[in-house]
Amino acid sequence: MPKAVVLGAAGGIGQPLSLLLKASHLITELSLFDIVNTPGVVADLSHIATPAQVTGYLPPNDGLVNALKGADVVVIPAGVPRKPGMTRDDLFRINAGIVRDLAKAIATTSPKAFVLVISNPVNSTVPIFAEVFREHGVFDARRLFGVTTLDVVRAQTFVAEVQGDGRNAPNVTVPVVGGHSGVTIVPLLSQSQPPLAANTSEEKLKELTHRIQFGGDEVVKAKDGAGSATLSMAYAGAEFAFKVLRALGGEKGIISPSYVHLSADANGGGVIHKELGRPVEYFSAPVELGPNGVERILPLGKVTAYEKALLEAALPELEGNITKGSEFITAAA
Ligand code: NAD
Ligand code: LMR
Repeated sequence: MPKAVVLGAAGGIGQPLSLLLKASHLITELSLFDIVNTPGVVADLSHIATPAQVTGYLPPNDGLVNALKGADVVVIPAGVPRKPGMTRDDLFRINAGIVRDLAKAIATTSPKAFVLVISNPVNSTVPIFAEVFREHGVFDARRLFGVTTLDVVRAQTFVAEVQGDGRNAPNVTVPVVGGHSGVTIVPLLSQSQPPLAANTSEEKLKELTHRIQFGGDEVVKAKDGAGSATLSMAYAGAEFAFKVLRALGGEKGIISPSYVHLSADANGGGVIHKELGRPVEYFSAPVELGPNGVERILPLGKVTAYEKALLEAALPELEGNITKGSEFITAAA
């Protein structure tokens, strides 16, 4: 049974995420690392009567390395969150260095682990992980995931509301592709199941798209300086981690959008390059998960003219974010 590690475990996302992982019977070991407060979180969680044995680490005495030893899945919500008026890219200055150092520790201690990146800006932090892993000769695109599940969770919720039955949210599926910030988030509403009503107005579609793209801002504004989404993110992060863990355990046919390096499947993301008409390096697309990580990247499928325009609008920002992340490592080499 696998060992899961949370880096940034004492934070706004880290604590509820660690709770959800502790409550799961999919793992037997839960290892928590943060630069502060890990002992308290561990003492608290360790009283819960579930199989996972919880251990906690702080930086002294090789805490990070000890936390990562034998890891199968590493989930990373370490880093600073947004305040009102900030973009996710504004977090790069602080978070890029944090994730670079965590990536180095993973590369040297648990290079075969599945790495699930939550820290923003995801469009850039995932390329940082990839470049650090490349430098250490351990990059495997099938095992590195940017967690975009919160966009999918929001899309399910908002589409169900528009369909007049919020309670049906768990049964709604909507592919959300591209990246994880503003216009790079592209919901393919035409592929919603159950479908949106045929007479849904263009204005309504635009409103819904905008709400999914900027859902994070709603929470940042409501928290009024106290951070960004934590509870919904913990839920979404756990959902994605459970899918990865189930696939690791041999379950077949598990599909979820995730932000990956497009070399992760056998044809190098060719299907997505063809659909987009350009060779973007990283993209959030529906991926089929297996015991070795990404088994297959699925095509985006049929998109409307409106969705095609959204994809075209997403690519310049996404490509800029990718270059910024990659060069943070390669330019320093
Ligand atoms: P938070 O400030 O509440 O928690 C962050 C935690 O990271 C803190 O406990 C802090 O001590 C820890 N930390 C800082 N540096 C560290 C290091 N070097 N090693 C280990 N831990 C370290 O923030 P939060 O609300 O939990 O958000 C965390 C990150 O997740 C932010 O970057 C935020 O933008 C991002 N986020 C991403 C998504 C997504 O959909 N991918 C959603 C919400 C938030
Ligand atoms: C989100 O989508 O809620 C997160 O990326 C946090 C943020 O900064 O909005």
